[in-house]
Amino acid sequence: MSYATALRCRKCGREYPLEPLNLCDFCFSPLEVSYDYKSVAKAVSREKIAAGPLCMWRYEDLLPVDGDVVDIGTGFTPLVKANRLGRELGLGELYIKNDCLNPTYSFKDRVVSVAITKAREFGFDTVACASTGNLAASVAAHAAKANIKSYVFIPADVEPGKLTGIAIYNPVLVTVEGSYDDVNRLCSQLVQRHNWGFININLRPYYAEGSKTLGYEVAEQLGWHAPDCVVAPSASGLLFTRIWKGLEELAMLGLIEPVNTHMYLTQAAGCSPIVNAFQAGSLHVHPVKPDTIAKSIAIGNPADGYYALRVARQSGGGACAVTDEELIEGMKLLAQTEGIFAEAAGGVVIAGLRKLVASGVIKRNELTVAFITGAGLKTQEAVAEVVHPLTIQPTIESFEEAFDK
Ligand SMILES: Cc1ncc(COP(=O)(O)O)c(C=O)c1O
Ligand SMILES: [Zn+2]
Repeated sequence: MSYATALRCRKCGREYPLEPLNLCDFCFSPLEVSYDYKSVAKAVSREKIAAGPLCMWRYEDLLPVDGDVVDIGTGFTPLVKANRLGRELGLGELYIKNDCLNPTYSFKDRVVSVAITKAREFGFDTVACASTGNLAASVAAHAAKANIKSYVFIPADVEPGKLTGIAIYNPVLVTVEGSYDDVNRLCSQLVQRHNWGFININLRPYYAEGSKTLGYEVAEQLGWHAPDCVVAPSASGLLFTRIWKGLEELAMLGLIEPVNTHMYLTQAAGCSPIVNAFQAGSLHVHPVKPDTIAKSIAIGNPADGYYALRVARQSGGGACAVTDEELIEGMKLLAQTEGIFAEAAGGVVIAGLRKLVASGVIKRNELTVAFITGAGLKTQEAVAEVVHPLTIQPTIESFEEAFDK
C-alpha cells in the first residue's frame, strides 16, 4: 500500500482524493501528491533502500502507487565522476548523472513508469500525452509493456531520430502542425472529451513524482549526501522542482542531513522564459515563442515555471541561458572529455554549467551534479558537423597516402 494520502493544491492547500486530477477547482493551481511522512519514516531506512531492486523502484515507499508497477528497467543510472570535464571547467568535484541510460534513453522513463502504473490502477484502457519527443517514446514503450493503447501527440517538426524511437513501439502517433504549446493546448481540450489517462495532464501529479527518484539516487550514490550544487535543464520546470523535493524529503525522513543544495536551472536562449523571469527578479513567467535546436526543452509557456523559480530562489541557486552555438559546444565537450553523448538538452546543461563556473557563481570547491537527461543519438543533426571521415581504399598505400606517412 502506498503512503500517499491525498492530492493537495500547491496554492490554497485544498485537498482532493487520489484520482486522475491535476488542477484545483477553486484556484486552478496544480495539485501535488502528499504523503503520511510519519509512516514513511517508520518504513524506510538506508539499509532497506540499498537492499532494494537496482532501479527507480527501490524508492517505492516514496512513490504514490498501490499495486504492481509497470517497469521496463528504469533508473539507478550511473553517477559518473567527471574529472576531465571538471578540470576543463574549473571544478574540483563534478559528477554527471547520466540519465541517457534509461530504456528509452531519457529521464522521462521515470515519470512515465509512475504515471502508467497509476493509469492501470485507475482502469484506463488508453493513455495519451503531449510531448516534445522524449515523453512520447517513453509513453509508447510503457504502454506496449502494459498492453494499453496509446496516443502520442508531438510537434510535426520533431527531430527525425526521435520519430523512429517513438513509432517502433506502435502507438497512435499524431504529429501536430504547431509548437509544443499548441500540442499541449490541444491535449488539454481532448482530455475533456475522452476518458483517457493523459500522462502529463490528468495524471500529472503522479507523473511529477517519478522525477524525485533523480534526487534520491544522486544522494544515495554520493553516500547519502546532497550535492552543493545541482545544474539541470528546464522545459515546463517540473523536473527541476522534483529533484529538489526528492532531496528535501530524504532530509525530512532523516536519511540525509538538512539540504543546503543550490539549484541552478538551464534553458536555451531561444526559449528561456524561466531564466528571463529569474533575471528580471520576478516569479512570474511571460510566455515566449521558441526558436532553438534544443527542441526537447522548447516550452514557451512552462506550466511549473513559477514553482521552478521559487526553488531556484529559495535554494540560493540561479538560472542560466545559453545560445544554440554554446549548447553545441557543450555537447561536444561532454562527449570529448567524458565519453557521454547527450542530446541538445544535455548540451544546454554543460554550457550553462560552464558559464556559471566562469562567472564565479558556482565555486571551484563546490560538489556539483550536472543532470544529463537525454541521449545524443536522438538529436544527431545538432552536431552533424563533427562527421568528416577520411575515406580510403582498403590498401596500405591508400592509408599512407591519406595520412601522408
Ligand atoms: C531531455 C529532457 N530534459 C529535460 C526536460 C525538462 O522537463 P520538464 O518539463 O520537467 O522541465 C525534458 C522535457 O521534455 C526533456 O525531454
Ligand atoms: Zn487551490
